[in-house]
Amino acid sequence: METKVLLPTKDNIKLVGEALRNGNIAALPTETVYGLAANALNGSAVKAVFEAKGRPMDNPLIVHISDFEQIEKFKLARKIPEKALRLAEKFWPGPLTVIVPKGEGVPDEVSAGLDTVAIRFPSHIVTQAVITAAECPLAAPSANTSGRPSPTAALHVLHDMNGKIPYIIDGGCCEVGVESTVVTVAKEQPVLLRPGGITLEQLIGVIGEVAVADAVLNKMQEGQKAESPGMKYKHYAPKANLVLIKSTLDKYIDYVNSRKSSDVGALCYDEDVPGLEVAAFPFGSRNDYVQQANRLFDSLRKIDETDLKLIYGRCPDTNGAAMAVYNRLIRAAGFEVIELA
Ligand code: TXA
Ligand code: MG
Repeated sequence: METKVLLPTKDNIKLVGEALRNGNIAALPTETVYGLAANALNGSAVKAVFEAKGRPMDNPLIVHISDFEQIEKFKLARKIPEKALRLAEKFWPGPLTVIVPKGEGVPDEVSAGLDTVAIRFPSHIVTQAVITAAECPLAAPSANTSGRPSPTAALHVLHDMNGKIPYIIDGGCCEVGVESTVVTVAKEQPVLLRPGGITLEQLIGVIGEVAVADAVLNKMQEGQKAESPGMKYKHYAPKANLVLIKSTLDKYIDYVNSRKSSDVGALCYDEDVPGLEVAAFPFGSRNDYVQQANRLFDSLRKIDETDLKLIYGRCPDTNGAAMAVYNRLIRAAGFEVIELA
């Protein structure tokens, strides 16, 4: 199959919208990461998304809408809890996914048999326009091959999906750069399942207490039940061994430089680059967590293009917007952290 990369013109949006309505799949830009979309009401179209990604069928997808009314119109939710309404009012359209009791309009392929469904109203104008042109909600996971970093540019999608999908709409680089925040309000106590562009503090500001699922910051123990199916899968791990270093700047630089070799690289903050004597992959300024989130996946993909064997990464903070960066990096590192006193 030839994969066409299209600019988001009016005609192309109409073309891809119609293709999606008729059961084809296509990759689209969103404000978080690129998504691989299918008509969320069409179980066999949704299956094709799982196949193109190589994604296990028991890992449910997010349903994307371009108008709040579509939740009722397409019977996406059995009920919309009051906390979901408050979150939607404050953060939609935007990088927040809310899990609610599933409605009868959602095929089992989307929810992987769960009785809940994940819904997101993206803010990206192109995503909204394609959903509107498709005249149906779109189920879309990130448009990477399962196990690779999420794509934040059309070229990343092309790298993973060339020959496997008919269309990629190129909307440039994604603004947020990490996947949406996922919160469940399906039960009384809201739980943060995946940190993203909307922070824990922001959620708490709107709905009060929000628990953080254990697996967000910690390694899942054997036999522990995943609160979100995505948590139990092996996440992106670079080809090189990634080890995170928790320390001051000076100690980090000394530690890495004393291990200098042609096999060693550094996944570091912009300010660290001048002091480092190994190949450096900066992913943002030290205190700019928003920028770090934006550049992280691209830096990880760049590392995979090299033959480096060992990467020393800076261990991010866990507060505010840094939680999303920490959550992705600690998994990429297989939870391996060295703390330098
Ligand atoms: O920003 C995003 O969320 C991107 C763009 C394309 O919208 N999408 C995305 O989808 O990251 P995906 O499939 O890569 O991640 C969805 C996550 C998975 O970890 C999945 O297990 C979880 O959401 N999820 C989906 N439905 C769920 C449900 N009913 N209950 C618990 N977790 C759910
Ligand atoms: Mg994903």
